[in-house]
Amino acid sequence: MTISALKTLDDLPMAEPGSFEGQSVYEAMARMRDRAPFARTEIGITLALRNRHIALMTGDATRQIETETKMLQGITDGPIFEFTRLAMLFANGDVHRRRRTPVARTFAFKLMDAMRPKVREIAEGMIGEVLGAGPINFVDDFAALLPAQIIASILGIPQSDIPVFLTWIQDTAAALGFVPPEERARIEASMTDFMAYVTDLLDDRRKAPQEDFLTDYVRATEAAGNLDEGEIRTQILGLILAGSDTTRGSLCMTLSELLQHPEQWQNFVADPDGLKRGVVQEGLRYQPVVSAIPRVLLRDLEVDGYRLPEGSVVAVSLVSALRDPDVFADPEQFDIHRTDHQRWHFAFGAGAHRCVGEALARAEMEEALATIARLAPNSRLVGRPPQLGFGAIRPVSAMTVAFEA
Ligand code: HEM
Repeated sequence: MTISALKTLDDLPMAEPGSFEGQSVYEAMARMRDRAPFARTEIGITLALRNRHIALMTGDATRQIETETKMLQGITDGPIFEFTRLAMLFANGDVHRRRRTPVARTFAFKLMDAMRPKVREIAEGMIGEVLGAGPINFVDDFAALLPAQIIASILGIPQSDIPVFLTWIQDTAAALGFVPPEERARIEASMTDFMAYVTDLLDDRRKAPQEDFLTDYVRATEAAGNLDEGEIRTQILGLILAGSDTTRGSLCMTLSELLQHPEQWQNFVADPDGLKRGVVQEGLRYQPVVSAIPRVLLRDLEVDGYRLPEGSVVAVSLVSALRDPDVFADPEQFDIHRTDHQRWHFAFGAGAHRCVGEALARAEMEEALATIARLAPNSRLVGRPPQLGFGAIRPVSAMTVAFEA
């Protein structure tokens, strides 16, 4: 096909208004997929709707967005800007590899898998406190707490510091995505304290090495010898932030779907360990918390009969790709028994930036949900099921659960 025969972005339909928030996004995406493989948005980003568009993230035809998103928000200096400038997530090429390698090496699968007993212990403690005692705020009092406690334990943060650590996480998680202008000052103040705390943790390990992740990380950065102090500490903050709202939302939505499908919940209760992997695979597919992964095109591309121009931003919609009927049978059905999951779950991205915390996220979700099924098999949702809102990491709405034995 010659370039002139290709359609252009102008030929694409606009994304439907309902395609960004709430339960309506899935129906909107399905209708949009039927019309064209891509959709335009009002802010000029092209949404890629098919599962095969994962390829846009694995080759060398695209790059990660760097500090541009913050500059567009008018943030050009200060802690949020510095975080974006120094984090692996917003870097490309050698810079990205340099920052990612020491983390990937030490945040290894085996170490994260070994956290499973700790996750069970924490989940058992949290459930034990409220079992049979009426409804709880599941988002704040379980789903946010669990990843925070686990990452605190990985970083060797003493129990007495956990309340302030939790506040920092809550205050600063927005630094990863859109920062509401009215909240910038508060976020930045909190981030400054958080960074100072991480700096102290790293200094402690340099002075008094221990048998733990942080000591190994410090050693790996020293062996590499090519990261500055700002980069070294920013990756730790990045780990904490990237693993918080993502795991929180995924835990909520997976439990919510299970409780809305009583037959599947009963199956899970009967065999938590046998089914926990399938439950998490399906929860991540059915309600992905990362809505879309944007990339900048480094050259003109021809995809599915369209010419996508160099310099344009294409965001591969996980919300759509994970319900693509080309890949998943009955994609709109929540089914913990499905056998057509992809080898590399796209909820964790693809290519150079694929989630470095996948093993930990899986350990947390699988063990927490299996513990709920074991200890609180008659649990129920109280009120409306939660929904995922608008954002790069889709925020989860309120969720109330009564844990019942
Ligand atoms: C269910 C939970 C999680 C989901 C759905 C998730 C999803 C993702 C996705 C889609 C990306 C790629 C973003 C991109 O390509 O632009 C990513 C990257 C990343 N994730 Fe996760 N994540 C989860 C949990 C975690 C956890 C627990 C950690 C660490 C404690 C973590 C740390 C990171 C980091 C550091 C990156 C950046 C990797 C890089 O740029 O090379 N994530 N995650």
